[in-house]
Amino acid sequence: MPTQRTLSIIKPDAMEKSSGGAILARFQEEGFLVRGLKHIHLTRAQAEGFYAEHRGRGFFDELVTFMSRGPVIVLCLEREDAIAKYREVIGATDPAKAAPGTIRKLYGNNVGENAVHGSDSEKSAAREIAYFFAGYEAAPTAE
Ligand code: RTP
Ligand code: MG
Repeated sequence: MPTQRTLSIIKPDAMEKSSGGAILARFQEEGFLVRGLKHIHLTRAQAEGFYAEHRGRGFFDELVTFMSRGPVIVLCLEREDAIAKYREVIGATDPAKAAPGTIRKLYGNNVGENAVHGSDSEKSAAREIAYFFAGYEAAPTAE
């Protein structure tokens, strides 16, 4: 499998529980390299732009209210087969249905407040990384 990048967000619920560091450490233990990192408090408009594909869905208002209620950590993560592997490590959207040991099982509150975001395809990873990082910020590291 090729080396890929994925966009991760440690969401406000996990940050409120001071679990950001533990979740970041878990990603590193799983072999992800941190290529970009920022700690930010999204405005409602920024959260709406990020989740634009969900506009019109019943949970959209709740989702953007949640995502803008406190600081988050945004990460550009890299490893072999990053997109699929990351989704495996975080588990199902609903923490109640997530496999034991996954991040959403360990840290999520419910289907809305589920601790972390992850890109779902190469196309969304490219859009999402570009949404948060200028080219030079998540640039390839010189070997
Ligand atoms: P994400 O995009 O955050 O990584 O989550 P996902 O792919 O597993 O799930 P997705 O269908 O893309 O939904 C995006 C986020 O919307 C919230 N949600 N709430 N109340 C609900 O029924 C509901 N459904 C989804 C969650 O925060 C979910 O992660
Ligand atoms: Mg999604």
